Amino acid sequence: MGVVSPAELYLQDFHQRVTGATGAAFNHLRARYRQREYPSSYHVLASSVPDSDDAQTVLDLACGDGQLLKLLAEGRRSSLRLMGVDMSQGELDAARALSAGGGRFIERARAATLDRNGLCGLRVIPHGPDAHGQHRPGAR
Ligand SMILES: C[S@@+](CC[C@H](N)C(=O)[O-])C[C@H]1O[C@@H](n2cnc3c(N)ncnc32)[C@H](O)[C@@H]1O
Repeated sequence: MGVVSPAELYLQDFHQRVTGATGAAFNHLRARYRQREYPSSYHVLASSVPDSDDAQTVLDLACGDGQLLKLLAEGRRSSLRLMGVDMSQGELDAARALSAGGGRFIERARAATLDRNGLCGLRVIPHGPDAHGQHRPGAR
């Protein structure tokens, strides 16, 4: 895990004590994005994965308890390889429990320590009823 910053320590402690809080808060909260309604902001993010038969890897960075990965796995697109990374052990345990059906690769790591070679797109959608997508420049 390398040298953990005070902010990361705080977050790890928080997520150990209230594991699954984000999913519990937002999983059933409808979201609006670009004039469309979605069952949740997780659905907004899931809809941004290109619909293709080509092999694709989706990395959910800071996956928490794995709500997005579960949703993508339920889509049952065999071309999708699903990976989740989070630095909080409690959230990882919950994500692994949620992925008991298999099909997901979930590891503990801090974002700063990841090798980002080969990353071709980054999508961030803040939770809430009005989701605002953010693309990394040059991202697809
Ligand atoms: C607000 S929760 C969101 C979880 C999930 N993305 C979701 O939407 O349900 C933030 C998550 O980010 C993780 N996290 C925060 N900073 C991180 C970092 N630097 N590296 C890895 N995980 C991190 C926390 O452990 C926590 O599980």
